[in-house]
Amino acid sequence: MPITPLRHFLEIRSVDEDQFWGLLRLAKELKDERTRLGRNAPILDNKALALLFQKPSLRTRVSFEMGMQHLGGHAFYISPQEVGLGARESVPDVARVLSGYADGIMARVFAHEHVLQLAEWSSVPVINGLSDYDHPCQALTDMFTIWEYFGQLAGLTLAYVGDGSNNVATSLIMAAGKVGMSVRVIAPQGYQPDPDVLKQSGTDVIVTDELVAVTGADVVYTDTWTSMGQEKEREERLKAFPKFQVNEQLLSITRNPDIKVMHCLPAHRGEEITDDVADGPNSLLFPQAHNRLHAQKALLAHLLGGVPLQ
Ligand code: CP
Ligand code: NVA
Repeated sequence: MPITPLRHFLEIRSVDEDQFWGLLRLAKELKDERTRLGRNAPILDNKALALLFQKPSLRTRVSFEMGMQHLGGHAFYISPQEVGLGARESVPDVARVLSGYADGIMARVFAHEHVLQLAEWSSVPVINGLSDYDHPCQALTDMFTIWEYFGQLAGLTLAYVGDGSNNVATSLIMAAGKVGMSVRVIAPQGYQPDPDVLKQSGTDVIVTDELVAVTGADVVYTDTWTSMGQEKEREERLKAFPKFQVNEQLLSITRNPDIKVMHCLPAHRGEEITDDVADGPNSLLFPQAHNRLHAQKALLAHLLGGVPLQ
């Protein structure tokens, strides 16, 4: 059975298992092609991607710009001040205007509803580059990275330590369900995943505030305790989270000397992760960041270039 093509990439929960695996395989193909030949075929020649940002970014912006360049296309950045999404101009109007200039729109927004609305009104594919609900490009990349290091995904256990209610945790829980991984979320009360996320994930998720739940995990993952847009809660969060720091002591509780440590970055070093762990032998932080380029090239090749998922 051919895999149903994706029209947009907005949230992990609306991608099916075959589509998810199709994207992972395409990412591998494009990464291998570039490693082998030093370049990718220019399948997006003459195509442009609009990069619409309501929040700051390093990885998302640069990896999409470079991804377009590698595939022979072009990307243009639009800063938060310029568009005033939903304020200076309505979301449907922005979507319809950009659709006439670009072949795709990548948007980083505060309200998830805005990225859904962009997709509803746009005539070109829309990619969610992070919203308050989901960070699907990150989760796709993370699964690609784990697959690369372990050679498999099914049967592995990922322990997410920190803010289990944020966009990155939600995306990982949903993505784990697509690939047969189990998840343990170790988070303080009040910062645990929404029950709907657990229900929709389709995998085994243990939620607890006991650190011992990291024992036997294959991967420990963390993210900032205060996400973009939550700055006013920072003091309160700093009080709730210190026990959930990923440090050498926590790694020893895993009882797995080969444990891999992941973080979507940017890291608040000394808060959710210590320097020795972030820079230590178990860290995958930088290969993970670099893989954003390869995973997103698969999205671009499929959504803008019509490359089928297989
Ligand atoms: N991980 C990630 O999305 O990083 P940026 O915020 O720098 O894009
Ligand atoms: N949860 C973080 C991820 C940053 C890439 C945030 O939303 O700020």
